[in-house]
Amino acid sequence: MTQSSDNEVDLLLGRMKTAAAPIRDVLRQIYGRLSQLGEGKVADYIPELAQANPNDFGISLCTVDGQTIEVGDCQKMFTIQSASKPFTYGLAIEDHGCEAVLQKIGVEPTGEAFNSIVLDETSNRPFNPMVNAGAIATADLIKGTDYPDRVKRMLATFARYCGREIFVDNAVFLSERTTGHRNRAMAHLMRNFGMVGDKFEESLELYFQQCSLLVHAHDLAVMGATLANGGINPVTQEQAVSTETVKYILSIMLSCGMYDYAGEWAFRVGLPAKSGVGGGIVAVVPGVLGIGLYSPLLDDKGNSRRGVEACIELSRRFGLHALESGTGTDDIKDFLSLNRGRGQKPNKS
Ligand code: DON
Repeated sequence: MTQSSDNEVDLLLGRMKTAAAPIRDVLRQIYGRLSQLGEGKVADYIPELAQANPNDFGISLCTVDGQTIEVGDCQKMFTIQSASKPFTYGLAIEDHGCEAVLQKIGVEPTGEAFNSIVLDETSNRPFNPMVNAGAIATADLIKGTDYPDRVKRMLATFARYCGREIFVDNAVFLSERTTGHRNRAMAHLMRNFGMVGDKFEESLELYFQQCSLLVHAHDLAVMGATLANGGINPVTQEQAVSTETVKYILSIMLSCGMYDYAGEWAFRVGLPAKSGVGGGIVAVVPGVLGIGLYSPLLDDKGNSRRGVEACIELSRRFGLHALESGTGTDDIKDFLSLNRGRGQKPNKS
């Protein structure tokens, strides 16, 4: 590298550090306050999840130009669980087209728990792809020459979003499939109504594998940033999903991503997001950044307690709510010198 390009890199890094500093300060404040919050309970429906350390907590941001700002345990691995659902839904749409997927899976919030055994009475479809029934029907739509090929395609999709090879936690997978009677019951009910095909047992396996993928908060931030960036992973520049499909994924995350908290989430945070019982949350600020959170202490709806609080605070501090027009304390795009995707906000002098 020449002397002048060295200087340019130093200059660029310097600018990035200056831009990130106020954001990192806010993250540290939020992290410090919420670390004290001991409320919530680690998932214990399988022994592997009950082993999670309740003190683990990480907040990671990844911008659409690939900058990362994070605090806490952002490299600590956990299983993605339901936070995987939007990404597999995107793959199903790419495999079959939006209208064909709509024939099998609705897009209406349920207001019910994620594992409720309920189908739309008129159409017999699961209500949406974010509840377990809808996610199993989604897995059933993943194409492949045979079961291993379907698993391979699913893994390759997540690898594109994360920008790295991705692995299944085998102990969690085996526990999920051994104890997943409720999910099996739903699959059988959907088979009865023709919402899943005759390979539905394999699709259940695929669903359990998908839930057992190991990620960390940083991965979730990059995955969110990929959606924020129109489907292109901002770190690897690889297209993980088409820009058109991103629109459908984000819509469903906004209306149904946080289960029976989805309404209050949209009200308070106003961002497309998805949680999982492993303690992860992925949230998306379209055109700006992805947010990845990890804290395994869950509230009574199955969402990460600290993760939800952190998002409420981030949204308020930086005016991230998708439907607000410039009332946040600070504009995160000003700090990051990003002016993409969302309109310029009025001056708040
Ligand atoms: O299907 C299940 O029960 C789990 N493997 C996934 C559930 C989940 O993450 C729901 N989340 N909040």
